[in-house]
Amino acid sequence: MHVLVTGGGGYIGSTLVPHLLGRGHHVSALDRFFFGEQTLSGAQALYGDRLHLVRADVRTAGEEVFEGVDALVDLAGISNDPACELDPQLTLETNLEGARRMHAAAARAGVGRIVFASSCSVYGHGASEALTESSELNPVSLYARCKVEGERSLFAVAASAPVTATALRFATVFGLSGRTRFDVAVNVMTKNAYLYRKITVDGGGKQWRPFVHVRDVAETIATVLEQPCERVAGQVYNVGSDANNLRIINLAYRIRDHVPGCEVVMAASDPDLRDYNVSFEHLREHLGFVPRWSIDDGIEEVLAGLREGRVDPEDRRGYTLKHYSFLCDVERAWRELSLAGRLLT
Ligand SMILES: NC(=O)c1ccc[n+]([C@@H]2O[C@H](COP(=O)([O-])OP(=O)(O)OC[C@H]3O[C@@H](n4cnc5c(N)ncnc54)[C@H](O)[C@@H]3O)[C@@H](O)[C@H]2O)c1
Repeated sequence: MHVLVTGGGGYIGSTLVPHLLGRGHHVSALDRFFFGEQTLSGAQALYGDRLHLVRADVRTAGEEVFEGVDALVDLAGISNDPACELDPQLTLETNLEGARRMHAAAARAGVGRIVFASSCSVYGHGASEALTESSELNPVSLYARCKVEGERSLFAVAASAPVTATALRFATVFGLSGRTRFDVAVNVMTKNAYLYRKITVDGGGKQWRPFVHVRDVAETIATVLEQPCERVAGQVYNVGSDANNLRIINLAYRIRDHVPGCEVVMAASDPDLRDYNVSFEHLREHLGFVPRWSIDDGIEEVLAGLREGRVDPEDRRGYTLKHYSFLCDVERAWRELSLAGRLLT
């Protein structure tokens, strides 16, 4: 199968792309590569003949990017709440309009399948425990509202074209990848425990959050792509496992137990509006998929990566908000100060 992965250079993409290549698929990774192309260097070295990097923007990419493509996995976008607030108009153009135009263009080009990266954050402030795919959606951020609308428009496209559409609502992801993010809860708390022997809990700590390892996300996407169309057409799956639903305070204690001498402190902050405890029964029962990696596995993996120097916790590209803020500043400086195509030199 030839799979076009938008956002293929990102945190999930840089694990998914080699995973799909390892299963024998051809992959085109379409990305602005805001975090660099080196996130896919391992995949390129191993499978360069079946991997094609496409530096393009989901807001403007032409239909030729779908030539010969069997499936679209749509991961592109600004990927957390605070980064989406930097420039709400840019967020709408990228996360909502960009997704809409890519889904519609894929359907027009005769692509057979679309898998859309949604998020469990669509449940927002969940009204009950064990939220299922049919529970009420209550998005409390621009990021999450774009996901709700993205799902709606995806299924609208699929209602009027012969394309198999599936939405995957990922839990908050953890673990190492080609673009390890240190702004997702398990990774950032583990990093702080390792570096400072201190974990600060924001938002009260009682809020529920589900978690899933990045390799389980990649495996779920591959599993969906390889199912008969009629099984996954029109389906929405929460992606994670019941065992990895935790209150944030309990996540902090769990990480503390892996790092001798670490303390947990509560920040004086407002309660976190995002509070959702999610059921993963549909993924388990309908797709037969059960994530393999526990939160403890992820903590140990991140600790080992830090200890062995395989990840750099100081790299700005590990922090989505910081990196996009930097790019905004660079763009502003370029606009105001550049002369004859040069800035400082
Ligand atoms: N990581 C999580 O915990 C998580 C949880 C739920 C859902 N998701 C969703 O999964 C998807 C991937 O998340 P991630 O953690 O890998 O994020 P990421 O930020 O690492 O990756 C997103 C990629 O999209 C690219 N991109 C941004 N704007 C673009 C544009 N206009 N055109 C082309 N490419 C563009 C970026 O360069 C980046 O490589 C996102 O849609 C995110 O909302 C992630």
